[in-house]
Amino acid sequence: MSGSIPHGNVLVNRFDPTADLSRATGEVEIDAFALSDLELIAIGGYSPITGFLQRHDYESVVERMRLADGTVWSIPITLPVPATVANTLQTGDTVRLVYQGEVYGLLEIADIYSPDKQKEARHVYGTDDVNHPGVKKLLDRPETYLGGPITLVKRADKGPFADYHFDPAETRAAFAEKGWKTIVGFQTRNPVHRAHEYIQKSALEIVDGLFLNPLVGETKADDIPADVRMKSYQVLLEKYYPAGRVKLAVFPAAMRYAGPREAIFHALVRKNYGCTHFIVGRDHAGVGNYYGTYDAQHIFRQFQPEELGITPLFFENSFYCKTCGNMASSKTCPHGSEHHVALSGTKVREMLARGEAPPPEFSRPEVARVLIEGLRPLSV
Ligand code: ADX
Repeated sequence: MSGSIPHGNVLVNRFDPTADLSRATGEVEIDAFALSDLELIAIGGYSPITGFLQRHDYESVVERMRLADGTVWSIPITLPVPATVANTLQTGDTVRLVYQGEVYGLLEIADIYSPDKQKEARHVYGTDDVNHPGVKKLLDRPETYLGGPITLVKRADKGPFADYHFDPAETRAAFAEKGWKTIVGFQTRNPVHRAHEYIQKSALEIVDGLFLNPLVGETKADDIPADVRMKSYQVLLEKYYPAGRVKLAVFPAAMRYAGPREAIFHALVRKNYGCTHFIVGRDHAGVGNYYGTYDAQHIFRQFQPEELGITPLFFENSFYCKTCGNMASSKTCPHGSEHHVALSGTKVREMLARGEAPPPEFSRPEVARVLIEGLRPLSV
């Protein structure tokens, strides 16, 4: 067999461009975040979820990282609407889901409920601090949740990355065609620097293929924009990776910055895309100092391997060691930090904005060039 079995055993497909819109009795305006969730549900990225969570599933996910039936799921997938809108709706109604004047989906409303967002924040993000970008987003979104099965009737605009948009059914077919039996998924919201390259290639030594799957949905304003990152991935793959061993595809989800919980979510979604393995390095999906360096690895211990169905590959903080003359981690390098080339994300971003390339031990020169070029208009 090639690849993995979808989470919950069946790859969900709820895309139906011929669905009868006339059965809808109302309309609900959704945001870009919900649109990306709508699409990912429909294409099976969130299998076995078939709609926005109803209260019993929502509470179960928030409290114990499982759907009500026990299936592991760590991030609540919700549809928040203003109470003024919710008050006009009833369970049993079907509504059109509208984004910027266009109908993208149908929701059969099975539940209308008021979440305890403070509780959701504490459980999912480990904090209710509004300075946390994921918590801020959660609190900024409207106060009432609609739950129920969805149908996607129109695909979202794929924008500039159309060539790199693949649904889980397509990536699964691509992996099978390549003859890959083991595939490692790599989540990123950053350019691929030398440390990322090192852990990807370490994994590539033991699996058949790398699924490089950068997130291109909503990110916080100071993350490097997706179009610039996409160019940097293309140039890196061209110069430094064997062509037949990598599949580059965008991941259209929004970033939650939920650290450990999001690492589980990222792994399960990549399982749906067909991956058998998933890389979790240091501070995966983290932000600021909200999570311990390896919390996103430790959380995997809370589950049995068979209930996850995807094998996490854990990597230590990696760096270039000038004395070893290679990429390494504390597992392989005996030298102190003064021998290492390590730069913070903020520092690198500042250098790039000034038009300065980080050292080649940190970032490939071709990648640095693309980033400097791409960030220049933003910094003036
Ligand atoms: S993330 O928010 O998408 O996780 P990022 O793009 O920085 O952020 O990381 C992608 C993956 O690489 C994550 O699994 C992260 O843990 C890992 N990673 C990033 N930098 C390093 C590093 N220097 N050493 C080890 N792992 C790293």
